[in-house]
Amino acid sequence: MVSKRGLGAGLIKDFEKIDNILNKVFSESDINISIKIRLGNENKEEIFNVLPIIDKYPIKNITIHPRIGKQKYKGEIDLESFKNCIENTNHKIIYNGNIFSVKNFKELAERFPTINTWMIGRGIFANPFLPEMIKDNKTDYPENKLEIFKKFHDTLFNDYQQALSGPSHIIIKMYSLWEYFIFLFPNSKKGLKKIKKAKNIEAFQNAVNIILNNE
Ligand SMILES: Cc1cc2nc3c(=O)[nH]c(=O)nc-3n(C[C@H](O)[C@H](O)[C@H](O)COP(=O)(O)O)c2cc1C
Repeated sequence: MVSKRGLGAGLIKDFEKIDNILNKVFSESDINISIKIRLGNENKEEIFNVLPIIDKYPIKNITIHPRIGKQKYKGEIDLESFKNCIENTNHKIIYNGNIFSVKNFKELAERFPTINTWMIGRGIFANPFLPEMIKDNKTDYPENKLEIFKKFHDTLFNDYQQALSGPSHIIIKMYSLWEYFIFLFPNSKKGLKKIKKAKNIEAFQNAVNIILNNE
């Protein structure tokens, strides 16, 4: 894991290093920098050593995922610590973590009225229509949900075919997305197993078609 080597979430405890990196970047270039950070790697206090350092620099914004590195993507998000972060920085904060539904979003937006930018990760793959639903404050899917999804899926699939070499790499990559996409197709869990077992592109496409035609 990169965090064990002091990279990724592992960098957070070395706040002098973060200071040195930012000092060098801002003294030698004028590029826009934004930062994505967790509360810590080992514990949720680590970020409070880093925020005053970041405050010294003209960062564009800070995205905070209120978990610690050790949690990976599991366990509770810590909204109380996120609130403390907002109160301990002068920078614009973007919220990131566990937005899987319009309801999740609304609860967070109500709790953090000063936040006006939100980052969604896994929620987009579990429901690619979620940003539109949030923007339009609705929970129903568009009538041509399948058509739109298929276009999105096929674009990803075609681009991965260009970027990756060999069917197994492509299928593994697509399977990692399908682990989230399948939430859109709750009646087709068996189809996911077929995707996992697919040994070639034809078998992959057949499995996808079974899922889509089952809708
Ligand atoms: C499979 C996977 C790969 C990820 N890769 C990265 C990455 O390369 N860089 C990064 O900053 N965050 C990465 N993340 C973290 C996400 O950007 C995000 O912080 C995290 O998933 C929490 O947000 P969510 O609950 O909306 O998914 C990854 C997350 C997942 C699940």
